[in-house]
Amino acid sequence: MNHFLDIHKTDPANLRRIIDQAATMKTARAGRPRGTPDDEQPLAGHMVALIFEKPSTRTRVSFDVGVRQMGGQTMVLSGNDMQLGHGETIADTARVLSRYVDLIMIRTFDESVLIEMAEYASIPVINGLTDRTHPCQIMADILTYEEHRGPIAGKKVVWSGDGNNVCASFLHAAGQFGFDVTFTGPGQLDPEQEWIDLARSKGATVQIERDPHKAADGADLIVTDTWVSMHDAQSARERRHNMLRPYQVDSALMAAAKPDALFMHCLPAHREEEATSEVMDGPQSVIFDEAENRLHAQKAIMRWCLGV
Ligand code: CP
Ligand code: NVA
Repeated sequence: MNHFLDIHKTDPANLRRIIDQAATMKTARAGRPRGTPDDEQPLAGHMVALIFEKPSTRTRVSFDVGVRQMGGQTMVLSGNDMQLGHGETIADTARVLSRYVDLIMIRTFDESVLIEMAEYASIPVINGLTDRTHPCQIMADILTYEEHRGPIAGKKVVWSGDGNNVCASFLHAAGQFGFDVTFTGPGQLDPEQEWIDLARSKGATVQIERDPHKAADGADLIVTDTWVSMHDAQSARERRHNMLRPYQVDSALMAAAKPDALFMHCLPAHREEEATSEVMDGPQSVIFDEAENRLHAQKAIMRWCLGV
């Protein structure tokens, strides 16, 4: 049994196996209607609980469709509607769910909820986003980059904007997949030092460059995300927007990168804020491939978790 809690907690060989299997499974069902089953049904007889304490479009739909394509069944649960949101401990919830279902995917506010769920569950737990990280997204992003441009190892990834949970998982991936990260954003919103140190300890070059155009020089991939995440206080919105405006990804910033650089955003996006529509809908953008690849990457993650 394997939990999928964060990219730095899964070893590089298994991460590579997951990406390769995702690519193989994607190819195997290319062109089929989404509702048709895969030829292989590794999740037949398996029940998966998808728990959301926060809103979601991509994570909710891609996990649900993925389980069904592999022959399993899902139940989508809102944290608020469970006793979890009304005082039952995470540990007790984990023990109880372990008697009913075979796999738990949870999106939660506080990372400690995910950690406690994994500690007390006797079944695998998958991180569907916390305040600190979003590993399933970055697995889909690695798959997407490699589909378009080949191996990501040795490439320069530039993160422009808020050093948030999605940025953190990119830093984890840098250490595991062997690429470099340059962060450009205001000093108050730097990524956590712990994640920078971790990526560096694994041989990745991590740079901080306050000038976004200097940062973009030589980039193979430019990535951004919303300026206000679901765990951020709405009261900080205006202050964050003011700080982050210089880091908007626009055509001028893309022009500072390599001519074949890609643009990524995990979505949902706030168009004309963190990125212009010109970039989001432009020829270098792969945002909808990223969204599709959530499905394929997570199918491979679930198989790895369950050993099927
Ligand atoms: N990228 C992502 O996780 O999207 P959702 O919030 O819609 O799940
Ligand atoms: N950073 C964003 C990602 C949403 C998928 C958030 O946490 O709200």
